[in-house]
Amino acid sequence: MILSSKAIDSGKVQFACLPLLVLLCTVLPARSQSQLPEGNGKQMVERACVQCHDLQRVTSARYSREDWQDVVNVMVNNFGATLSRDEIGVVAEYLAKNFVGEPTPAAVVIPGSVEVSIKEWVVPNGARPHDPLVAPDGSIWYTGIAGNVLGRFDPKTGQFKEYPLRTPDSRPHGLIADKEGTIWFTSNGAGYVGQLNPKTGEITEHRMPDPKALGPHTPIFDQKGMLWFTMSGDNMVGRINPKTGEVKLAPTPSPGPYGIVVNSKGIPFFTEFRSKGKLASIDPETMKIQEYALLNPDTRPRRIAVTSDDVLWYTDYARGYMGRLDAKTGKASEWPSPSGPKSAPYGITAVKDIIWYSESGVKPNTLVRFDPKTEKFQTWIIPSGGGVVRHMVTAPNGNLWLATSGVNGIALVEIKDQ
Ligand code: HEC
Repeated sequence: MILSSKAIDSGKVQFACLPLLVLLCTVLPARSQSQLPEGNGKQMVERACVQCHDLQRVTSARYSREDWQDVVNVMVNNFGATLSRDEIGVVAEYLAKNFVGEPTPAAVVIPGSVEVSIKEWVVPNGARPHDPLVAPDGSIWYTGIAGNVLGRFDPKTGQFKEYPLRTPDSRPHGLIADKEGTIWFTSNGAGYVGQLNPKTGEITEHRMPDPKALGPHTPIFDQKGMLWFTMSGDNMVGRINPKTGEVKLAPTPSPGPYGIVVNSKGIPFFTEFRSKGKLASIDPETMKIQEYALLNPDTRPRRIAVTSDDVLWYTDYARGYMGRLDAKTGKASEWPSPSGPKSAPYGITAVKDIIWYSESGVKPNTLVRFDPKTEKFQTWIIPSGGGVVRHMVTAPNGNLWLATSGVNGIALVEIKDQ
């Protein structure tokens, strides 16, 4: 099943029933209901599918019959949509009849000489890990978006521990550790950046200074210890000074600030997912934003990685490309991803200046390796299917950790002979 989160971002606005819009928000459901085609199940969708996102999220999706069954099951079992067992079947049938799409394309495997081993674990309680993290003590963490938890996995013992969040429906999204091992995470659902002390489980919440800032998305530390984060649905980038707790926000020139990295000079660069093909940097002192155009305005850059030469690499989710930008010269290049235009490249990272990413739009999801020197690709199947690898990170020893959200797991990729 493809459970892409393109809709999370575009749907964000719907959570924002600000005072001025309250009237509109109360009137709108009645209008959007009439957009649904007639049929058995229509009322159930109108009743059970509008609490967290609007109906457009449903009507703009296209899935095969089997994948609709999966999506409705996830909405009910993981997110808490209220449908009885019988109703699930009726709704899935209704959606498959009216919003059916092409089956997910198959993954393309390109053989090569590099060897990897992929180990996978299923996390407890179906928390659907969204983003992974390697903490300074070697433990692996994930945001359990569907369980309102942060999870910790000890690779030595194989033990999981989940830390419940204080605020309901926090929808923890991204996470990062500071040098002391405190876990910082973004609450995309309840609008705060949290700080978890792994020893005590105690959580501090940093609220946003702007009522329009609803959804912190992906966090990262710069070399001076400032925490930067994107706010994809709100079109802002934020900065927290952990010493004082002060939060500063800056609006982005283009919509959808998403993946974020910091280069060797301490400058954060981020993708603008819903822009017309742009990356941007933010001045760490003034918070002034500068944009860089990529080659194709239809590019939707989602996640981003940086190599030791400060060159930026991004996944083009919409067109099925992987691209490169040298911000110093403004020169951009791109390569079609091995599984083609519908491959939906998503999570990306760099290991010793080699690029690794995952294609999330194919079945099973792939792991892709790209060597910038030879411009050659090699790919592998993710044994569990991957279920949309939304983010991956590089461990200090050069291995990769992936969150395999749709299959409720995390994965370790050991890269041999590097
Ligand atoms: C309790 C909250 C909630 C309810 C109710 C809900 N959803 Fe969702 N829905 C979500 C969240 C959260 C996401 C984003 C999932 C992610 O990124 O993993 C989502 C995403 C989706 C998507 C987008 C998937 C994609 O690939 O982009 C579809 C389609 C969808 N929901 C359909 C439905 C349908 C159909 C119903 C009614 C049966 C429903 N939702 C009810 C929370 C909800």
